[in-house]
Amino acid sequence: MEKILVTSALPYANGPLHIGHVAGAYLPADIFVRFQKLLENDVIYICGTDEHGAPISIKAESEGVSPRDVVDKYHQSIKESFRGLEIEFDNFSGTARPEHHKISQSFFLNLLKKGFITKKTTKQWFDQKLGRFLSDRYIEGICPYCGSEGARGDQCDNCGKLIDALKLKNPISKISGDTPIIKETTHWYLDLPKFEKELREWLETKKYWKDNVRNFIFGWLNEGLIDRAITRDIDWGIPVPVENAEGKVLYVWFDAPIGYISSTMEWAKNIGDPDRWKDYWLDKNTKLIHFLGKDNIPFHTIIWPSMLMEQDDPYVLPHDVPANEYLNLEGQKMSTSRNWTVWVNDYLKYFDGELLRYVLAVNAPETKDSDFNWKDFQTRINSELNNILGNLANRTFVFSEKYFSGSIKKPDHLSEISQDNLNKANELVDQIHESYIKYQVRRVVKLIMDIARLGNKYFDETQPWVTIKNDPELAEETLYVCSELLRIISIAFSPIMPRSMKVLRQMMKLPDKLAWKNLGVQMEKISLNNVKPLFRKIEDKEIEEQIRILKQKQIEEEKGVEHKPEIEFDEFLKLELRIVEIVAAEKILKSNKLLKLKIRLNGESRTVVAGIAASYEPKEIIGKKVVMVMNLKPRRVMGVESQAMILAAHN
Ligand code: 2FM
Ligand code: ZN
Repeated sequence: MEKILVTSALPYANGPLHIGHVAGAYLPADIFVRFQKLLENDVIYICGTDEHGAPISIKAESEGVSPRDVVDKYHQSIKESFRGLEIEFDNFSGTARPEHHKISQSFFLNLLKKGFITKKTTKQWFDQKLGRFLSDRYIEGICPYCGSEGARGDQCDNCGKLIDALKLKNPISKISGDTPIIKETTHWYLDLPKFEKELREWLETKKYWKDNVRNFIFGWLNEGLIDRAITRDIDWGIPVPVENAEGKVLYVWFDAPIGYISSTMEWAKNIGDPDRWKDYWLDKNTKLIHFLGKDNIPFHTIIWPSMLMEQDDPYVLPHDVPANEYLNLEGQKMSTSRNWTVWVNDYLKYFDGELLRYVLAVNAPETKDSDFNWKDFQTRINSELNNILGNLANRTFVFSEKYFSGSIKKPDHLSEISQDNLNKANELVDQIHESYIKYQVRRVVKLIMDIARLGNKYFDETQPWVTIKNDPELAEETLYVCSELLRIISIAFSPIMPRSMKVLRQMMKLPDKLAWKNLGVQMEKISLNNVKPLFRKIEDKEIEEQIRILKQKQIEEEKGVEHKPEIEFDEFLKLELRIVEIVAAEKILKSNKLLKLKIRLNGESRTVVAGIAASYEPKEIIGKKVVMVMNLKPRRVMGVESQAMILAAHN
């Protein structure tokens, strides 16, 4: 039996969970863990929220509450989202808990004692308006490597490179919007060059890691390691445990991965066996597997292993770091700051969590970025889940109930075509096993659907609706074989669709407890129970609603960010702006946007067509004085000549 410790990157407790997170770090891990449980390996799945650092402070400031409030709120929200998606951890902790603080400080002290941490006075960005140093995430600018805008002081989301904040071009303080100055401050640094040789040797043994991960790491190593500040000047975090360190806390990326350990300790305590965590972390035979999105690769493959290597206790190093690429949304890069994402709690108001599991598994960004879009969501659910797998279950069970009262027995002999199909299914099962182990979830889904396709084709070819008339035993054989295929699917697909596979098993009165080794154990008889459709179809109007919601987000976003090119003051002076009185107003027939206004200015009157009917009733605006552009060239709108233009703003 293998001993496996699986983790997913700790999500920041500074906002709700979105589908990009799920696709990158959580669903693949949950699927892998469920599969390992099927294999009856000794596996635990550990996670928690990342509760320190600037992401939390920034959110607290923007919401006008304390960091603690932010952490509590989003810890809860994230946990609920996971529940809705049936992502099941053995423990889900949080890094603001006292035990976590204690062990993080001891990690720091150990490295300090052994000379892997040094203290240095250096320069840092300082916001004069606020009188404070700006840690990485409080500062934004142009990436010195790829030139993209909006790079943070610690990392560029576009090229994924870690950045020395002082090298950012055109830096801006995210809090005040001012350009910061450079000022001296003292910090503690992790001496990464000291780890380089050992790291390289260790990483060289990881030939089986995914190509995207290895390329990333060696690209990084080859640029040469430099020491990294592991403390920050902010007031929310784990205090640096040495004298004369007031106002300094551990850098969030120093303490976050230690959260994997503190969460395992919490798990051990909760199961009443407080030392049990050591069986995983302090045993070289444990396979420690970190699931994450690609932006977290350097921290987990360079910095974190370095921190583990030099502890007094013999910690196990990561066995594998199956990082995923990014999930886009409707062809565009997802972005929480631009609200271009689908939040899991919003999704769950409309659809079942399992459907998302399916679609994200099919579209998993395993080797390259992939895309989630609502039309594809609908197609996958309707034409794959319903029309292939749902159809096989439905036709098999409905037929069995109608002609055999839901009771099917195993035939004494199988015809060649039946045996052939069962053999093919078993070959597919071997491939499915291999794909799960290699984290190839997309392939798993395809292979499982292949089993269902096989079943439908076999059903069509053996024509039980014909054989039932003259050879009912043959019809029963078809139903038996199709049920067998469904039983196989109910085990093999359970890591991806745990709940509906449970329902499928209940319909066939199969035991809840699953094991991969039982895949080869055929049913002697089947007695159906409570047969119902496995999945439901997604209607066009449900998808249209989601697309409408997304479009609305986009409109709101564009309103906030779209700037027009600069103009000269002289150009502005060309406008003749006047305050005029609206003396009459009426709706323009056949338009729900336009009002026809009569305005008066010093005895002169004009007609104006204004697109404000959605916001104002005619009678509300008669008598109002408004600013108009008087020298805009007259234009005919819906047959009426508009001789000026009203100035109005949204909200
Ligand atoms: O990028 C992130 O969302 C981080 N909160 C991940 C931390 S992973 C680990 F080290 F805890
Ligand atoms: Zn970049």
